[in-house]
Amino acid sequence: MEEGGSQVSFLSSALSLGIKMLNIPKSSTTGFKKNVILYICTTMTKFAHDNIVPSKDSLLSKKEQVAGMFDSIAGRYDFLNRFLSGGIDLWWRKKAIRQLKKLNPKKILDVATGTADVAIMSTDILHPEKITGIDISDGMLDIGRKKIKKLGLESTIELLNGDSAAIKFNDNSFDAVTVAFGVRNFEHLEKGLSEIKRVLKPGGKLVVLEFSKPKTAGITQLYNVYMNLVAPNVGKFFSNNRTAYKYLDESIKKFPEGKNFTLILDNLGYTNTYCKPLSLGICSIYCGEK
Ligand SMILES: C[S@@+](CC[C@H](N)C(=O)[O-])C[C@H]1O[C@@H](n2cnc3c(N)ncnc32)[C@H](O)[C@@H]1O
Repeated sequence: MEEGGSQVSFLSSALSLGIKMLNIPKSSTTGFKKNVILYICTTMTKFAHDNIVPSKDSLLSKKEQVAGMFDSIAGRYDFLNRFLSGGIDLWWRKKAIRQLKKLNPKKILDVATGTADVAIMSTDILHPEKITGIDISDGMLDIGRKKIKKLGLESTIELLNGDSAAIKFNDNSFDAVTVAFGVRNFEHLEKGLSEIKRVLKPGGKLVVLEFSKPKTAGITQLYNVYMNLVAPNVGKFFSNNRTAYKYLDESIKKFPEGKNFTLILDNLGYTNTYCKPLSLGICSIYCGEK
């Protein structure tokens, strides 16, 4: 089991044991248990995945390092995404956005929007009234704004500098929230996910798209060679930044994927959570409702 997910289930088991020892009826403790886990998750706990940083030698926080890293590769980010994924990332994004088709959201927040690919694709697929994209990297946002202007989408999409750990919107503001390849980079994963829940309207839906590790024999070996050799070297060649693509591999390895991620969503109070692995498990879609 991944570390983040196992910490949450350990907490859950420890609380169940305590409740049993005190002989408290189960029916009266369910809400209490959830609230204790929620409190610990969002205030005190630092999970293993939160500590994976681009450079262990840096004195900067994860947020500062991540923002600086994306600022430095922003100009090459879209090209490298298409090149390294062979274009399949566009299909992954479409598939993730389509999870919102039934909901027909009018107001969408795209967290860790980067160069706004998901925000732009969402206008085509979902036809919302307004999409707000937030990100901590001004370099990525600048590229996104240029793309939005070129496509004449300024009246629908607005990009703002903003952190997932302290979203500057009122409670119950959005019908849907999307996060593509962003949650792995959050300095405080649980805080970000609970902030997203706060700004979602009741009945609103969160869609997360994130890399995961393939489990099929043979594919795993190929994937490891690709992540350890191909991606860092191609990244270095085109963006002069090997660290960014080494960090990509490390952060995927430590990330609480699959059931561990939906368990975190469940414990934060999301309902109807599910996980959909894509392309032999290289990528996964996670959803939850408020
Ligand atoms: C891999 S990029 C993904 C960008 C875009 N969503 C996409 O699909 O291409 C990750 C983005 O997450 C942003 N990010 C990391 N931590 C963040 C945080 N705490 N709040 C908002 N954005 C964050 C980074 O600046 C970066 O632009």
